[in-house]
Amino acid sequence: MTKSFSQFAPAYKDRIDNRLQTIVNQPNHQKIIPAPLAGAIDYGISNGGKRIRPLLVYMIVRALHTDLAHADATACAVELIHCYSLIHDDLPAMDDDNLRRGKPTLHIQFDEATAILAADAMQTMAYEVIASDDLLTAEAKISIISSLASASGPRGMIAGQIIDMDAETRQLSATELENMHRRKTGDLFAFCTEAGAIIGAASAEITLALKQYGYALGLAFQVKDDILDVIGNAEVMGKPQGSDIEQDKTTFVSSYGLNAAIAQLEELKELAISSLAPLGEGSAELIALAEFVVSRDH
Ligand code: IPE
Ligand code: IPE
Ligand code: MG
Ligand code: MG
Ligand code: MG
Repeated sequence: MTKSFSQFAPAYKDRIDNRLQTIVNQPNHQKIIPAPLAGAIDYGISNGGKRIRPLLVYMIVRALHTDLAHADATACAVELIHCYSLIHDDLPAMDDDNLRRGKPTLHIQFDEATAILAADAMQTMAYEVIASDDLLTAEAKISIISSLASASGPRGMIAGQIIDMDAETRQLSATELENMHRRKTGDLFAFCTEAGAIIGAASAEITLALKQYGYALGLAFQVKDDILDVIGNAEVMGKPQGSDIEQDKTTFVSSYGLNAAIAQLEELKELAISSLAPLGEGSAELIALAEFVVSRDH
């Protein structure tokens, strides 16, 4: 059965938006966290992102017939990590961008020190949210925390980000470029699938299938991001168009040209979808998500 992303995604998005609001606006947080920091964390989280990574966790947990409540902490944690990474990514020392999700970036709205510290805080909050969850077993928490730390740490997302910085000064080889995209974006997507598999107690075969899907989807997501930097509309995207060109970055488009990047995107989508075969009918939402990732305009 074909499912339409726009039909089922809003309910997941409302769920994650509400859960994140609850975390940020806990009454005791407001008392304990100094006001500028609390305001900056709220600004960094409650600002209309697509929430693709939490959606991915929820869709997998649903496909594995598990109560979504068990996925809430992990969905919040991965979005906290993602939001922190964007705040640092936009800083003058990194991509030096002024617009994010249609609003001034955090260091423009507040200041650089507050942006750095709010992002630091969001990173540690991610682990706190999982550690203090009431529904996950202690064993599941340790597996998820460990997997999130390696996906977002110096072998994962941060490795990708430092290679990306290096990509401003020299042309990366094809292998280096793919490695950069896998690290900076693919690893966090693969984490979402791995964590979803843990929460839903998936078999080894399904866990592997989901991980392959996660890597292909994450790589496709970053290739599409590179394409949108060239042909997207800044108003629709809510972030500047042409940022990569301005920073002279190696991207899929600068390396292969627009048409070849679009062809690679299609191939990655097919790979993602074919990885889902072992899930049978349970893959409908995940197939629709892959279609959305390649066709999105923001
Ligand atoms: C942008 O991520 C950064 C990349 C990893 C390409 P998203 O496109 O998921 O950003 P939001 O959260 O929806 O704004
Ligand atoms: C950001 O990649 C990846 C991470 C934050 C890990 P980009 O620099 O391409 O993301 P945008 O285009 O600024 O959203
Ligand atoms: Mg960047
Ligand atoms: Mg950037
Ligand atoms: Mg980009």
